[in-house]
Amino acid sequence: MAQSKIAGIGMYLPKNTLTNNDMTKYMDTSDEWIQERTGIKERRFADRTGETTATMGAEAAKMAIERAGTTTQDIDFIIFATLSPDYYFPGCGVLVQRALNMKDIGALDVRNQCSGFVYALSVADQFIRTGMYKNILVIGSEKHSFGLDMSTSGRNISVIFGDGAGAVVLQPTEKEGQGILSTHLHSDGNHAEILAMYNPGTHANHWAQEKLADFNDAEIADMFMSHAMVEKKQNFPYMNGPAVFKMAAIKFPEVINEALNKNGLKASDIDLLVPHQANLRISQFLENEMGLKDKVYNNIQKYGNTTAASIPIALCEAWQEGKVKEGDLICLAAFGSGFTWASALVRW
Ligand code: UT7
Repeated sequence: MAQSKIAGIGMYLPKNTLTNNDMTKYMDTSDEWIQERTGIKERRFADRTGETTATMGAEAAKMAIERAGTTTQDIDFIIFATLSPDYYFPGCGVLVQRALNMKDIGALDVRNQCSGFVYALSVADQFIRTGMYKNILVIGSEKHSFGLDMSTSGRNISVIFGDGAGAVVLQPTEKEGQGILSTHLHSDGNHAEILAMYNPGTHANHWAQEKLADFNDAEIADMFMSHAMVEKKQNFPYMNGPAVFKMAAIKFPEVINEALNKNGLKASDIDLLVPHQANLRISQFLENEMGLKDKVYNNIQKYGNTTAASIPIALCEAWQEGKVKEGDLICLAAFGSGFTWASALVRW
């Protein structure tokens, strides 16, 4: 059975840069607080009308396709990971298929938030291994800036998110030991409401009522989209930051070790760990905990947390800087909303 390799990688970042000081124009925060708690110095926000999750994904895809030595006509499947789609439905995959004038190939959307890219990569890997497809485009893209509470009440979330996109093209490889060695996917829905955007949605307060702002019967009657929902700011993401942080510190090492054990490898065999860029403090914790001094790639300082896009953007930038070389062992790891967490080991 063929293994799959990352044959091309690309990224797209909007030009519009907001520093931490820029954020203080909207909310009570400070450069000092943001840098100390998260490591973030600035982030990119997409153009309000000119850039969407799908258009940014398409730009990253073009770069990945060209670097893979292929054309848009060679791509035989699209997998698109995002939590901030252009439309509630249809998904962004079909919008990329249209934007890049691709053949009427399948387009699958993945909703696994911060773990979305690793989940998408895992699905693509299975299709390549079985021989079903030969050139799969995997995209992670987010336009968070359109749905953030930019007032002080949303500051714990709004200062961490940024916009951008990353993409890879997966192809089969015959080279022994090259490519994606294994992927590992997990979830625990008991924590679904700890990091979530509750509305618009169909739950009508069915789940975890103690965690959701209460709505009366009349409000629930026109629940999908209502004034009450907007007044209670439920159309913005909610996060219990400390609870997420604590679980991330447990699950990141666990899922990295799972991948290493599966392949009979040790942490010291890793040449570069590219974690989901959630918080520089989490990355630094991982570096110490796993004994990976100077082997953890971080660019959250420049781009913030771009959720499904953060791993492909970081991997692309590391590759462009010459930090990912043929034969290197690269570990991708993610943790986020769901909770979901995942890892992939790749021999470049
Ligand atoms: O990507 C998906 C996965 N996400 C993560 O892994 C994120 C994990 N969590 C985190 O990174 C951190 O929890 C945050 C960076 C989100 C928040 O940092 P924290 O150290 O956990 O802060 P906190 O939420 O416990 O808040 C501490 C204080 C509070 O004030 P009081 O109640 O102590 O007076 C907050 O109101 O900091 C305040 N605060 C802020 N102050 C200035 C929260 N956000 C801000 C802000 N600026 N932006």
